[in-house]
Amino acid sequence: MSTIGWVIYNGNLPSSKFVDFARMLQEAAHRQNGELHIYKNNDLLSFLVSNEFKILKNTPESLPDYVIFIDKDIYLARQLESLGIPVFNSSRAIEISDDKILTYQELVKEEIPIPSTIIAPKIFSTGTIEKNMLTQVIEQLGLPLVIKEAFGSFGEQVYLVHSEAELREKVEQLQGKPFLFQSFLKSSFGRDLRLQVVGNHVVAAMKRTSEQDFRANVTSGGKMENYSPTTEEKVLAIRAAKAIGADFAGVDILFGPDDSRYVCEVNSNAHIRNLFDCTGINAADYIVRHILRQIK
Ligand SMILES: Nc1ncnc2c1ncn2[C@@H]1O[C@H](COP(=O)(O)OP(=O)(O)O)[C@@H](O)[C@H]1O
Ligand SMILES: [Mg+2]
Repeated sequence: MSTIGWVIYNGNLPSSKFVDFARMLQEAAHRQNGELHIYKNNDLLSFLVSNEFKILKNTPESLPDYVIFIDKDIYLARQLESLGIPVFNSSRAIEISDDKILTYQELVKEEIPIPSTIIAPKIFSTGTIEKNMLTQVIEQLGLPLVIKEAFGSFGEQVYLVHSEAELREKVEQLQGKPFLFQSFLKSSFGRDLRLQVVGNHVVAAMKRTSEQDFRANVTSGGKMENYSPTTEEKVLAIRAAKAIGADFAGVDILFGPDDSRYVCEVNSNAHIRNLFDCTGINAADYIVRHILRQIK
């Protein structure tokens, strides 16, 4: 009997990037004589009745042998796991990856180098900002410093602040949301590395550089080039993916002083189209092969 998988992506986001990622995986599965059916997360309803987990859907198809989960709908991923279905990445890995604060805490547990980070205390939207907190943040991290919302992507929720006044203004804007303060690695201004990890391997990598922005994200104007990572960079990326329990991940690495390297983030749902365009390597083939091996 052949193995049937599902790939689940976010059905509400307008960008075609998400379905494109799902199709790349589906084509990779076909190349390996496997079947992978594409579902939107909102076509599947997690149904809980007293002592039972169920999935409501409008197709007669039975539940799959495995799921590739490229969405952040953690509750749905957990529902599928509760039904005994292997889910890649796991709901826990997605949950950690989605939240930059949780990610950094897991990385530090494994003694993986990250830029020094202070977690903003939880202040409800009506709370006051202590001058003392801002002073301590500046004292520890210096200026300019980076502020990141816990939940964000494409560089859009990452800010560089240059003065105490800017810091206060940003902190006021972010009240009610989880965020962190981080030391700014100026040696990494407008440049970083993206390494694609699958299992115990780095399958492709690129260097991203931006002329006009401290963020190297392609969406913020970063240019990509194929990159051959050093052994040290590969080991760092693989350890980072493992630290959050990801089977596959796009790991961002920053340049510190004196050739040091720091992990910036671990993306459990990193899109692989740019990587393919830049390097000619289709990470989908590696991801599908890795998963089929895991479920055997
Ligand atoms: N501490 C830092 N020092 C210097 N540059 C940084 C730092 N943190 C992030 N960046 C830059 O900002 C970009 C976006 O940050 P990242 O944490 O990866 O958020 P996102 O999830 O939005 O991609 C990184 O790719 C990097 O170029
Ligand atoms: Mg990033």
